[in-house]
Amino acid sequence: MQNMQNRRCWVEVDGRALRHNYKILRRLIPRNTRVMAVVKANAYGHGLVATAREFQTIGTDCLGVANTAEGILLREAGITLPIFLLSATLPEEMGDAVRHALTLTLSSYPEARTLDRIARRLGDQARAHFKVDTGMGRLGCWHPHARKELARIRSLPGVSVTGLCTHFASADDDADFTQAQWQAIAPLFAENPTMERHAANSPAVTRRYGFHADLVRLGLALYGVAPNPTDRDLGLRPVLTWKSRVTLIHEVGRGRTVSYGATYRVPSTQRQAVVSMGYGDGYFRLHSNASHLLVRGLRCPIRGRVTMDQIILDVTRVPGCRVGDEVVALGSQGGEEIQARELALQAQTIPWEILTNIGARVPRLYRNFKTHAAV
Ligand SMILES: Cc1ncc(COP(=O)(O)O)c(C=O)c1O
Repeated sequence: MQNMQNRRCWVEVDGRALRHNYKILRRLIPRNTRVMAVVKANAYGHGLVATAREFQTIGTDCLGVANTAEGILLREAGITLPIFLLSATLPEEMGDAVRHALTLTLSSYPEARTLDRIARRLGDQARAHFKVDTGMGRLGCWHPHARKELARIRSLPGVSVTGLCTHFASADDDADFTQAQWQAIAPLFAENPTMERHAANSPAVTRRYGFHADLVRLGLALYGVAPNPTDRDLGLRPVLTWKSRVTLIHEVGRGRTVSYGATYRVPSTQRQAVVSMGYGDGYFRLHSNASHLLVRGLRCPIRGRVTMDQIILDVTRVPGCRVGDEVVALGSQGGEEIQARELALQAQTIPWEILTNIGARVPRLYRNFKTHAAV
């Protein structure tokens, strides 16, 4: 295990910010609505097991993962909360899902029949929620057919269908479409008051549609990133800071070129720092010649192309910059901040991808966690 002194590129995850965000979001939903913390994709880059443990301690009601493998990792780490598989489950994964008490998302009778057969062979009953497609067009039974399909699935003795859900496709930017999706699911929700009903994700909650039902499924907002720029007043705090270090400093004269493709030519003598991170760590190559990193609380422009492991930075304006200085790619330093939204805009993507793209070779350090010793 490396100690802090020899780390070159790492992520710090702040448990205090996580708890703060949970409190803020809890206040936006009714008291009797439950909260699923979505921890799929390595808890949006924050580290699956440590983050899930913290959510369990904070008091979230259940967890959402993408697939059986993620669910099993959580069970093996001692997580006892209900765990939902938010993607479809392959037939060959169903036995493991049942054995680890994972709740499947079912879209169709054929899928449910396979699960029923596998669960009964194990002498068990599978847990499942039935998904209805109201416009997302990914999982779920198309809503006009949902009532009939649900009745067929409920006749299977090996499957216990305890929930009913849909997923919003455009809650962050299309209120009319979201409203139409809610109207498509509302009659089915009303007919099934004893089932656990859920639809809302982060944007649905932060934009205050009021479509809370029995459970909301929160990812991005819990990690402190507002899904929409207009949500800023919520006071969410970014949980993750992505850091690196300066490994080399040199003066570069006018007319010299920088990095692969020689896409940057130095206009007048510059002090440049080589920073120990790159696209191999999940920092997008699209940030080449476009984004900034923070050094000593100042924004420093990236010069030339981002390479696999190293980035070249203009630190001419940073007095006293030296080898070993901490660099922030995402998060705050001094009075400056680089937000996931800013990086997303520059890389032509969304904040969700900026976070989940942070690579496996970047160690996660947990600060202010109740359940995980600080490193
Ligand atoms: C089915 C489902 N519900 C909820 C979420 C959480 O979404 P968000 O991060 O916008 O809260 C996701 C994430 O992609 C999802 O796939």
